[in-house]
Amino acid sequence: MTTVYLNGEYLPKSDAHVSVDDRGFLLGDGVYEVTPFYEGVPFALDRHIERMRHGLDWLRIGFDVSTLDAVNRELVRRNGLEDADRALVYLQVTRGAAPRTHYFPIGPVSPTVYAYAASWSRPSNEVWMRGFRAITVPDRRWSRVDIKTIGLLPNVLAYQAARDAGADDAILVRDGVAIEGAHQNFWAVVDGKAVTHPKTNLILPGITRDVVLELAAEEGIEIEERAIAVEELATAEELFFTGTTGEVRPCVEVDGKSVGDGAVGPVTRRLSDAFLRRVALTKEAARAAAR
Ligand code: PDD
Repeated sequence: MTTVYLNGEYLPKSDAHVSVDDRGFLLGDGVYEVTPFYEGVPFALDRHIERMRHGLDWLRIGFDVSTLDAVNRELVRRNGLEDADRALVYLQVTRGAAPRTHYFPIGPVSPTVYAYAASWSRPSNEVWMRGFRAITVPDRRWSRVDIKTIGLLPNVLAYQAARDAGADDAILVRDGVAIEGAHQNFWAVVDGKAVTHPKTNLILPGITRDVVLELAAEEGIEIEERAIAVEELATAEELFFTGTTGEVRPCVEVDGKSVGDGAVGPVTRRLSDAFLRRVALTKEAARAAAR
Protein backbone atom coordinates (compact mmCIF):
# COMPACT_ATOMS: atom_id res chain seq x y z
CA MET A 1 0.00 0.00 0.00
CA THR A 2 1.37 3.42 -0.93
CA THR A 3 1.28 5.98 1.86
CA VAL A 4 1.21 9.63 0.92
CA TYR A 5 1.28 12.85 2.93
CA LEU A 6 -1.54 15.34 2.60
CA ASN A 7 -2.02 18.40 4.79
CA GLY A 8 -0.44 17.05 7.95
CA GLU A 9 -1.59 13.44 7.62
CA TYR A 10 -0.05 10.22 6.35
CA LEU A 11 -2.72 8.19 4.61
CA PRO A 12 -3.27 5.55 1.94
CA LYS A 13 -2.95 7.10 -1.50
CA SER A 14 -6.51 6.01 -2.38
CA ASP A 15 -7.83 8.05 0.58
CA ALA A 16 -5.97 11.24 -0.37
CA HIS A 17 -8.31 13.80 -1.96
CA VAL A 18 -7.79 17.39 -3.01
CA SER A 19 -10.54 19.92 -3.62
CA VAL A 20 -11.49 20.69 -7.23
CA ASP A 21 -11.15 24.33 -6.12
CA ASP A 22 -7.47 23.83 -5.40
CA ARG A 23 -5.52 26.62 -7.04
CA GLY A 24 -2.86 24.14 -8.06
CA PHE A 25 -5.46 22.22 -10.07
CA LEU A 26 -7.20 25.30 -11.52
CA LEU A 27 -4.33 27.72 -11.97
CA GLY A 28 -0.99 25.92 -11.53
CA ASP A 29 -0.57 28.15 -8.47
CA GLY A 30 2.11 26.30 -6.53
CA VAL A 31 5.65 24.99 -6.31
CA TYR A 32 7.23 21.54 -6.07
CA GLU A 33 10.45 19.77 -5.21
CA VAL A 34 11.93 16.38 -6.00
CA THR A 35 14.53 15.15 -3.51
CA PRO A 36 16.58 11.98 -4.03
CA PHE A 37 17.20 9.34 -1.36
CA TYR A 38 19.92 6.70 -1.60
CA GLU A 39 19.28 3.67 0.63
CA GLY A 40 17.10 5.84 2.82
CA VAL A 41 19.64 8.67 3.07
CA PRO A 42 18.51 12.02 1.66
CA PHE A 43 20.89 13.76 -0.71
CA ALA A 44 21.09 17.56 -0.30
CA LEU A 45 17.63 17.67 1.33
CA ASP A 46 18.41 21.00 2.99
CA ARG A 47 19.14 22.58 -0.40
CA HIS A 48 15.88 21.27 -1.86
CA ILE A 49 13.89 22.64 1.08
CA GLU A 50 15.68 25.97 0.81
CA ARG A 51 14.80 26.19 -2.91
CA MET A 52 11.17 25.48 -2.04
CA ARG A 53 11.22 28.16 0.68
CA HIS A 54 12.56 30.64 -1.86
CA GLY A 55 9.80 29.69 -4.36
CA LEU A 56 7.07 29.96 -1.73
CA ASP A 57 8.35 33.39 -0.67
CA TRP A 58 8.39 34.59 -4.25
CA LEU A 59 4.81 33.35 -4.82
CA ARG A 60 3.83 34.82 -1.43
CA ILE A 61 2.44 31.50 -0.22
CA GLY A 62 2.68 31.55 3.57
CA PHE A 63 3.93 28.13 4.57
CA ASP A 64 6.59 27.15 7.08
CA VAL A 65 8.94 24.67 5.42
CA SER A 66 10.53 23.57 8.70
CA THR A 67 8.33 20.44 8.91
CA LEU A 68 9.31 19.20 5.45
CA ASP A 69 12.60 17.56 6.38
CA ALA A 70 10.72 15.16 8.69
CA VAL A 71 7.92 14.62 6.14
CA ASN A 72 10.42 13.60 3.45
CA ARG A 73 12.19 11.10 5.73
CA GLU A 74 8.96 9.70 7.17
CA LEU A 75 7.47 9.05 3.72
CA VAL A 76 10.54 7.06 2.69
CA ARG A 77 10.28 5.05 5.92
CA ARG A 78 6.53 4.43 5.69
CA ASN A 79 6.82 3.25 2.10
CA GLY A 80 9.54 0.74 2.89
CA LEU A 81 12.08 2.59 0.72
CA GLU A 82 14.88 2.74 3.28
CA ASP A 83 16.76 -0.03 1.49
CA ALA A 84 15.92 1.13 -2.01
CA ASP A 85 18.99 1.84 -4.07
CA ARG A 86 17.31 5.03 -5.26
CA ALA A 87 14.10 6.71 -4.16
CA LEU A 88 12.64 10.18 -4.37
CA VAL A 89 10.15 12.32 -2.55
CA TYR A 90 7.91 14.55 -4.63
CA LEU A 91 6.58 17.45 -2.61
CA GLN A 92 4.07 20.04 -3.76
CA VAL A 93 2.66 23.09 -2.03
CA THR A 94 -0.16 25.07 -3.62
CA ARG A 95 -1.87 28.25 -2.47
CA GLY A 96 -4.83 26.09 -1.39
CA ALA A 97 -8.52 25.72 -2.26
CA ALA A 98 -10.61 28.85 -2.86
CA PRO A 99 -13.19 30.02 -5.42
CA ARG A 100 -11.32 30.68 -8.65
CA THR A 101 -9.99 34.20 -9.01
CA HIS A 102 -6.94 35.50 -10.82
CA TYR A 103 -5.96 37.43 -7.69
CA PHE A 104 -4.97 35.79 -4.40
CA PRO A 105 -7.90 34.58 -2.25
CA ILE A 106 -9.24 37.20 0.15
CA GLY A 107 -8.96 35.96 3.69
CA PRO A 108 -6.99 33.07 5.09
CA VAL A 109 -6.60 29.93 2.98
CA SER A 110 -4.45 27.00 4.06
CA PRO A 111 -1.91 25.89 1.49
CA THR A 112 -2.35 22.34 0.18
CA VAL A 113 0.72 20.26 0.98
CA TYR A 114 1.07 16.94 -0.79
CA ALA A 115 4.00 14.52 -0.96
CA TYR A 116 4.67 11.00 -2.13
CA ALA A 117 7.71 8.72 -2.25
CA ALA A 118 8.69 6.37 -5.06
CA SER A 119 11.68 4.37 -6.17
CA TRP A 120 13.58 5.03 -9.38
CA SER A 121 16.54 3.43 -11.04
CA ARG A 122 19.75 4.45 -12.72
CA PRO A 123 20.19 3.07 -16.24
CA SER A 124 22.53 0.07 -16.46
CA ASN A 125 26.21 0.87 -17.04
CA GLU A 126 25.86 -0.51 -20.54
CA VAL A 127 23.00 1.86 -21.38
CA TRP A 128 24.77 4.78 -19.68
CA MET A 129 27.97 4.14 -21.62
CA ARG A 130 26.03 4.14 -24.89
CA GLY A 131 24.91 7.66 -24.01
CA PHE A 132 21.63 9.49 -24.56
CA ARG A 133 20.15 11.32 -27.51
CA ALA A 134 18.54 14.76 -27.52
CA ILE A 135 16.72 17.03 -29.90
CA THR A 136 16.59 20.82 -29.78
CA VAL A 137 13.19 22.38 -29.12
CA PRO A 138 12.24 26.06 -28.77
CA ASP A 139 12.09 27.12 -25.12
CA ARG A 140 8.48 28.29 -24.78
CA ARG A 141 8.53 28.69 -21.00
CA TRP A 142 7.87 31.91 -19.08
CA SER A 143 10.63 34.19 -17.86
CA ARG A 144 10.83 32.98 -14.22
CA VAL A 145 11.74 29.34 -14.64
CA ASP A 146 14.15 29.71 -11.72
CA ILE A 147 11.03 29.31 -9.55
CA LYS A 148 10.10 25.62 -9.51
CA THR A 149 6.40 26.07 -10.21
CA ILE A 150 4.08 23.16 -10.97
CA GLY A 151 3.10 24.70 -14.33
CA LEU A 152 5.24 22.47 -16.56
CA LEU A 153 3.27 22.42 -19.82
CA PRO A 154 6.15 23.67 -22.04
CA ASN A 155 8.48 21.12 -20.41
CA VAL A 156 5.94 18.35 -20.97
CA LEU A 157 5.47 19.29 -24.63
CA ALA A 158 9.23 19.52 -25.18
CA TYR A 159 9.87 16.16 -23.54
CA GLN A 160 7.05 14.54 -25.51
CA ALA A 161 8.53 15.97 -28.73
CA ALA A 162 11.82 14.28 -27.78
CA ARG A 163 10.07 10.96 -27.15
CA ASP A 164 8.13 11.26 -30.41
CA ALA A 165 11.48 11.74 -32.17
CA GLY A 166 12.93 8.66 -30.44
CA ALA A 167 15.24 10.82 -28.30
CA ASP A 168 15.84 10.80 -24.54
CA ASP A 169 15.54 14.50 -23.75
CA ALA A 170 15.00 17.91 -25.29
CA ILE A 171 17.46 20.79 -25.21
CA LEU A 172 15.45 23.98 -24.82
CA VAL A 173 16.72 26.76 -27.08
CA ARG A 174 15.99 30.44 -26.54
CA ASP A 175 17.49 33.27 -28.60
CA GLY A 176 20.16 30.96 -30.02
CA VAL A 177 21.19 29.66 -26.59
CA ALA A 178 20.96 26.03 -25.44
CA ILE A 179 19.43 26.80 -22.04
CA GLU A 180 18.72 23.47 -20.30
CA GLY A 181 16.87 20.19 -20.74
CA ALA A 182 13.14 19.65 -20.23
CA HIS A 183 13.86 18.38 -16.70
CA GLN A 184 17.62 18.56 -16.33
CA ASN A 185 20.35 21.18 -16.53
CA PHE A 186 22.60 21.15 -19.56
CA TRP A 187 26.39 21.25 -19.93
CA ALA A 188 28.95 21.32 -22.70
CA VAL A 189 32.66 20.55 -22.56
CA VAL A 190 34.51 23.13 -24.64
CA ASP A 191 38.32 23.23 -24.74
CA GLY A 192 38.32 20.87 -21.76
CA LYS A 193 36.21 23.26 -19.67
CA ALA A 194 32.84 22.32 -18.21
CA VAL A 195 30.41 25.00 -19.41
CA THR A 196 26.88 25.53 -18.12
CA HIS A 197 24.34 28.36 -18.22
CA PRO A 198 24.72 30.83 -15.35
CA LYS A 199 22.04 30.93 -12.65
CA THR A 200 19.60 33.46 -14.03
CA ASN A 201 15.82 33.65 -14.36
CA LEU A 202 16.17 31.47 -17.49
CA ILE A 203 17.21 28.20 -15.83
CA LEU A 204 16.08 26.14 -12.90
CA PRO A 205 18.96 26.41 -10.41
CA GLY A 206 19.52 22.66 -10.17
CA ILE A 207 20.81 21.19 -6.94
CA THR A 208 22.66 18.53 -8.95
CA ARG A 209 24.18 21.34 -11.04
CA ASP A 210 25.50 23.00 -7.87
CA VAL A 211 26.95 19.72 -6.60
CA VAL A 212 28.59 19.00 -9.97
CA LEU A 213 30.09 22.51 -10.01
CA GLU A 214 31.65 21.76 -6.61
CA LEU A 215 32.88 18.38 -7.82
CA ALA A 216 34.37 19.87 -10.99
CA ALA A 217 36.33 22.34 -8.85
CA GLU A 218 37.57 19.48 -6.63
CA GLU A 219 38.56 17.49 -9.72
CA GLY A 220 40.52 20.42 -11.10
CA ILE A 221 38.20 20.70 -14.11
CA GLU A 222 37.88 24.29 -15.26
CA ILE A 223 34.37 25.71 -15.11
CA GLU A 224 32.70 28.41 -17.16
CA GLU A 225 29.20 29.60 -16.28
CA ARG A 226 28.07 31.20 -19.53
CA ALA A 227 25.48 30.82 -22.25
CA ILE A 228 26.10 27.91 -24.64
CA ALA A 229 25.36 29.01 -28.22
CA VAL A 230 23.33 26.47 -30.17
CA GLU A 231 26.12 26.39 -32.81
CA GLU A 232 28.47 25.06 -30.13
CA LEU A 233 26.46 21.86 -29.90
CA ALA A 234 28.05 20.77 -33.18
CA THR A 235 31.61 21.49 -32.05
CA ALA A 236 31.60 20.75 -28.30
CA GLU A 237 33.82 17.86 -27.19
CA GLU A 238 31.11 16.51 -24.89
CA LEU A 239 27.57 17.32 -23.81
CA PHE A 240 25.79 16.12 -20.69
CA PHE A 241 22.80 16.74 -18.45
CA THR A 242 22.51 16.90 -14.66
CA GLY A 243 19.41 16.44 -12.50
CA THR A 244 17.99 14.60 -9.53
CA THR A 245 16.81 11.52 -11.40
CA GLY A 246 19.37 11.75 -14.22
CA GLU A 247 22.41 12.37 -11.97
CA VAL A 248 25.14 13.01 -14.57
CA ARG A 249 23.87 11.81 -17.95
CA PRO A 250 25.94 11.86 -21.15
CA CYS A 251 24.38 13.24 -24.33
CA VAL A 252 26.05 11.74 -27.41
CA GLU A 253 23.71 12.89 -30.16
CA VAL A 254 21.79 16.08 -30.89
CA ASP A 255 19.25 16.31 -33.71
CA GLY A 256 20.67 13.11 -35.22
CA LYS A 257 24.30 14.35 -35.23
CA SER A 258 26.98 12.77 -33.07
CA VAL A 259 28.61 14.83 -30.35
CA GLY A 260 32.40 14.62 -30.74
CA ASP A 261 33.23 11.07 -31.78
CA GLY A 262 29.84 9.85 -30.55
CA ALA A 263 31.24 8.14 -27.45
CA VAL A 264 30.77 9.21 -23.82
CA GLY A 265 33.64 11.58 -23.06
CA PRO A 266 36.21 11.62 -20.25
CA VAL A 267 34.97 14.77 -18.46
CA THR A 268 31.42 13.42 -18.28
CA ARG A 269 32.74 10.11 -16.94
CA ARG A 270 34.91 11.81 -14.34
CA LEU A 271 32.10 14.00 -13.11
CA SER A 272 29.67 11.09 -13.01
CA ASP A 273 32.17 8.99 -11.01
CA ALA A 274 32.78 11.92 -8.66
CA PHE A 275 29.01 12.32 -8.24
CA LEU A 276 28.57 8.65 -7.33
CA ARG A 277 31.47 8.92 -4.86
CA ARG A 278 29.76 11.95 -3.27
CA VAL A 279 26.57 9.90 -2.92
CA ALA A 280 28.53 7.05 -1.28
CA LEU A 281 30.19 9.51 1.12
CA THR A 282 26.82 11.03 2.00
CA LYS A 283 25.46 7.58 2.84
CA GLU A 284 28.52 6.73 4.96
CA ALA A 285 28.34 10.03 6.83
CA ALA A 286 24.63 9.55 7.60
CA ARG A 287 25.26 6.03 8.88
CA ALA A 288 28.18 7.14 11.02
CA ALA A 289 26.06 9.94 12.51
CA ALA A 290 23.28 7.47 13.32
CA ARG A 291 25.64 5.09 15.20
N1 PDD B 1 13.49 18.33 -12.46
N2 PDD B 1 15.97 21.94 -14.97
C1 PDD B 1 14.66 21.65 -14.96
C2 PDD B 1 13.75 22.35 -15.91
C3 PDD B 1 14.16 20.72 -14.03
O1 PDD B 1 12.84 20.44 -13.99
C4 PDD B 1 15.05 20.08 -13.14
C5 PDD B 1 14.58 19.09 -12.11
C6 PDD B 1 16.42 20.41 -13.22
C7 PDD B 1 17.45 19.78 -12.32
O2 PDD B 1 17.33 20.22 -10.99
P1 PDD B 1 17.80 19.28 -9.79
O3 PDD B 1 19.22 18.97 -10.03
O4 PDD B 1 17.59 20.14 -8.59
O5 PDD B 1 16.94 18.04 -9.82
C8 PDD B 1 16.84 21.35 -14.13
C9 PDD B 1 12.81 17.53 -11.46
C10 PDD B 1 13.65 16.42 -10.95
C11 PDD B 1 11.47 17.06 -11.99
O6 PDD B 1 10.76 17.92 -12.51
O7 PDD B 1 11.11 15.90 -11.85
